[in-house]
Amino acid sequence: MSKLARAASIEDLRQLARKRLPRVVFDFIDGAAGNERTLRENQQCFADWQLMPRVGVDVSDRSLATRIVGHDAKLPLILAPTGLAGMFYPGGEMAAASAAEAAGIPYCLSTNSVASIEEVAAAVPGGDRWFQLYIMKDRGLTDALLERAARSGYRVLCVTVDLPIQGKRDRDVRNSFTVPLRPRPGTILDVASHPRWLIGLLRSNVRFGNFVGSEPEGFTSIAKLVGTLFDPSANWDDIARIREKWKGPVVVKGVLHPDDARRAVEIGCDGVIVSNHGGRQLDQVPASVTALPAIAEAVGGRAEVILDSGVRRGTDILVARALGASACMIGRAFLWGLASGGQAGVTRTIDILRDELDNALALLGQRRFVDVGHQSAIRSHDHRHGVPRQAENVNAEPGRPRLASGG
Ligand code: FNR
Repeated sequence: MSKLARAASIEDLRQLARKRLPRVVFDFIDGAAGNERTLRENQQCFADWQLMPRVGVDVSDRSLATRIVGHDAKLPLILAPTGLAGMFYPGGEMAAASAAEAAGIPYCLSTNSVASIEEVAAAVPGGDRWFQLYIMKDRGLTDALLERAARSGYRVLCVTVDLPIQGKRDRDVRNSFTVPLRPRPGTILDVASHPRWLIGLLRSNVRFGNFVGSEPEGFTSIAKLVGTLFDPSANWDDIARIREKWKGPVVVKGVLHPDDARRAVEIGCDGVIVSNHGGRQLDQVPASVTALPAIAEAVGGRAEVILDSGVRRGTDILVARALGASACMIGRAFLWGLASGGQAGVTRTIDILRDELDNALALLGQRRFVDVGHQSAIRSHDHRHGVPRQAENVNAEPGRPRLASGG
């Protein structure tokens, strides 16, 4: 049995990726901002909720199928936009997009990809492809990215709004993470002791594929790229203008406050992605799962609500569903699979989450994922602060979430 097939959980894939990648690259994926408190909370706060199973239900025939932003999907999962996937495995963006297509789920290409908008579209013409946009200082460049994505058949535009400037990520500063990697004694040793990854890297042309000609010269940190090109003055007027320009669905990624979710709906966005960028931007913000119920209530079914950040288990996806999300995005979970084995590794990530979700759905006493509602989640005792809270139905609380769909 291969190492991939033996990986039983997303954490197992993380350990495989840790072996396969030089430290500088592993840390770029694994790390987050500041004290990495939000990174930890994103996972731990799923434990603030418990699943309440029902028994005596015929669960012999089950379905995980759903619709995500107006399109059929076989699973409530989306591969999140992640910069530099092609640095983790040769052709990383194409590998991930192909795995997503085969699994019947959307793939979202990042602005900061290694392969360009056109290269990914040519290699994976089918599938539900989304494009993630950062708003550039040069609005001509922003519009050009939009036009290129539309011409190349990307269906959904995902505007990321939580990165006016780059979060401070200590691991990347300490490791001098740049594109291309800056040769320093520590980095050379680190890289040389991972020959399989290095051979792949030498076959690849790692650069910011969508910015050839406009990116900063030489060794570029992500912070430098962001500082040079991205617009910290971008605001809701710009998002509204982009909403007007893009003919298909628009989702806004990086919302934690219900008022911001309302604003996104008011300007006509089709979806709100509750996200803190996997803890990579402002540290010490709420976990996405903590922010989800109030956002689901604020949106009130007028747009789709998607949960992003911290998803590592099928049970996490069920909790998100019970709190009002239609689907979940995964970032690191699929990058660890990608780094461990290219397309087969991403497929392994999706298989693990599909199996866990299917197993959990049956044990919850539900036949269809879309039918999971607020009755399925109750608040846990607050273990982290040692304050026992009475288990209660979410719906019994003041300000309870109203679910977007599926009750
Ligand atoms: C990201 N993320 C991200 N988001 C985005 O909108 N554009 C981007 O280019 C990137 N790049 C990126 C690179 C890497 C290496 C990671 C790990 C993440 C954030 C990503 O879309 C998503 O929000 C988080 O990864 C979700 O958290 P989990 O699933 O990793 O816990």
